[in-house]
Amino acid sequence: MSLMSTLTAELDQMSAAGTLKREMRMTSAQGALVQIEGKGEVIMLTSNNYLGLANHPAIVAAAERGERDYGYGLASVRFICGTQNIHKELESRLSNFFGTEDTILYGSCWNANEGLFQTVLTEDDIVISDELNHASIIDGVRLAKCRKARYRNRDMTDLQRLLVENASARNKMIVTDGVFSMEGSLAPLPELVALAREHDAFLVVDDSHGSGVLGATGRGTAEETGTWGQIGAYTSTLGKALGGSHGGFTTGPKSLVEYLRQKSRPYLFSNTLPPAVVLGSIAALDLVERDDVLIRRLRDNTRYFRKKISSMGVTVREGIHPIVPIIVGDTAKAISMSKELLDRGVCVSGFGFPVVPQGQARLRCQISAAHTREQLDRAITAIVEVAERNGVRAAS
Ligand SMILES: Cc1ncc(COP(=O)(O)O)c(C=O)c1O
Repeated sequence: MSLMSTLTAELDQMSAAGTLKREMRMTSAQGALVQIEGKGEVIMLTSNNYLGLANHPAIVAAAERGERDYGYGLASVRFICGTQNIHKELESRLSNFFGTEDTILYGSCWNANEGLFQTVLTEDDIVISDELNHASIIDGVRLAKCRKARYRNRDMTDLQRLLVENASARNKMIVTDGVFSMEGSLAPLPELVALAREHDAFLVVDDSHGSGVLGATGRGTAEETGTWGQIGAYTSTLGKALGGSHGGFTTGPKSLVEYLRQKSRPYLFSNTLPPAVVLGSIAALDLVERDDVLIRRLRDNTRYFRKKISSMGVTVREGIHPIVPIIVGDTAKAISMSKELLDRGVCVSGFGFPVVPQGQARLRCQISAAHTREQLDRAITAIVEVAERNGVRAAS
């Protein structure tokens, strides 16, 4: 049992340091307001439910239709007997939404990233990755047998240096998050597109936090930055703005998608998406494509929150994205502030090392189209008071 002793000792250390994570229990659906065991109703200010679709009646109805007409699950991977007409329909709708040739669904965006680099890159190739890319890209890259390099976050000079140094590689791939999930900052896509062209590199953007969120019609970071149609391929998720349930995908050139269908291990060896999720995701796309009401509401709420909380003396990372980080420094402080906020009826996550660099622990607020102004005002008041008590905001 020496392994268990080692693990227990480390857990005890985390507990003593105040960095042990405890999962709160929700007894309601996801939404702007949720019920939490022992706390009652609180404002949810930390989910990826950007458009408020996670419990939208049209999506729930579509999911119910999925179960009624197509059953609970397929008990199979896609290539054996797990492909229904609705899987093909969702893939085609996603290609249409992203302006790409074809799309392959995965169980999650984690799986999409896990199944990309190891499948298409060999020892003769190189992948060059932003240092702040999501853990699923980091692990996905680890699995690949190709050459690997990392550039400083959003630093195009550093990326250019690596592209020049590795000019001899047979194929070069650059991979970036469209939106960095702990920062709310956007990748410099115009510069990335230009560098990829100049050095004949294939650009992959994980737009999990951009899809359904950024751009006038929610088509993501490329639409927002004027690089629509210029990205090599995207990976993204159905688990955030585009419905909020589960599922991920890679979308891009036909040949890439066909190759992944033949060889990508998380696609070949893991179950197909359940019908309820597939029809729910199609209903989410229907809502996003119908008009821009939700996207505009999300944008307005984000602007309102960012402006008001800054005007009340709490410094937030500047930007336009609904991810709004408040840097508090110490991990234990971020966790205890998050607990204080929960006691005041506002749910905001505290993130510390190793999720973010040492000394840069933070509260990560995330705004939703579902929030009312009254809810945002209540949340801001609570954050300002807790920040002041913890020395994160100077007392006025
Ligand atoms: C940038 C990024 N990529 C991938 C993922 C994983 O997405 P999924 O939940 O679909 O596996 C996330 C989720 O947090 C993410 O933020």
